[in-house]
Amino acid sequence: MSFTPFHIAIDGPEAAGKGTVSKLSAEKLGFLYVDTGAMYRMTAYLGHTTGVAYEDETGLAELIRKSKMELRNPTPEEKDGRLITVLLNGDDVSWQIRTPEIGQGSSKVAVHPLVRKELVIKQQEIAAHQNVVMEGRDITFRVLPDAQLKIFLTASDVVRAQRRFQQQQTKGVSTTLEEVYQNLLERDKRDRERSTDPLHIVPDAWVLDTSELAIEDVVDLIVAKVKAMRHE
Ligand code: DC
Repeated sequence: MSFTPFHIAIDGPEAAGKGTVSKLSAEKLGFLYVDTGAMYRMTAYLGHTTGVAYEDETGLAELIRKSKMELRNPTPEEKDGRLITVLLNGDDVSWQIRTPEIGQGSSKVAVHPLVRKELVIKQQEIAAHQNVVMEGRDITFRVLPDAQLKIFLTASDVVRAQRRFQQQQTKGVSTTLEEVYQNLLERDKRDRERSTDPLHIVPDAWVLDTSELAIEDVVDLIVAKVKAMRHE
């Protein structure tokens, strides 16, 4: 009998809690956690470090084709607050891709259809033979349109800005809440208005608003739902 992988697809705007929720749900279910945003960030990082402009669609697509992008669970030595270890051509870039510069760059490179095409292929390959919790902005309708469970995770603008600001503070990044808020609105607009695969809610998505919920409660809801679906 052939193995049918169970796919959980999670979309939502920045700082809605997708990373933590996906990571913890994956851990509890024994699934692989896949952060697709990290792949857009690696693309921006590649452009930034090799002098290929964020606007250069074919140049960026070529860089992706030539690069090896790996995502894996952190080893005990790597447990420094990261959710996932990100390797680009064998180098650990887990933190280098989390700067505000690369954050803005990632949403700029993400508007290009060719960049999206290359990354979607890589993401579908990862999910082809294993159970995954995959999160991003186009997972429920482009990468895994047949996922058994589709979730749209969201939170109010203010709560998202506060969360991102706190994260930046713990990382020692010098910024203000106002700056983080404006940055977030700019990226949201780009994600929702791009011509290829703009972020939206699919009709069969389960919409979860995390503004008033603790992360653990959201994880418990998801895990319970999956167990019920799999008759466990
Ligand atoms: O989730 P994140 O902030 O790490 O994502 C970085 C950027 O990548 C974000 O601005 C939008 C883009 N992205 C995307 O377009 N599609 C995805 N599946 C994941 C991320």
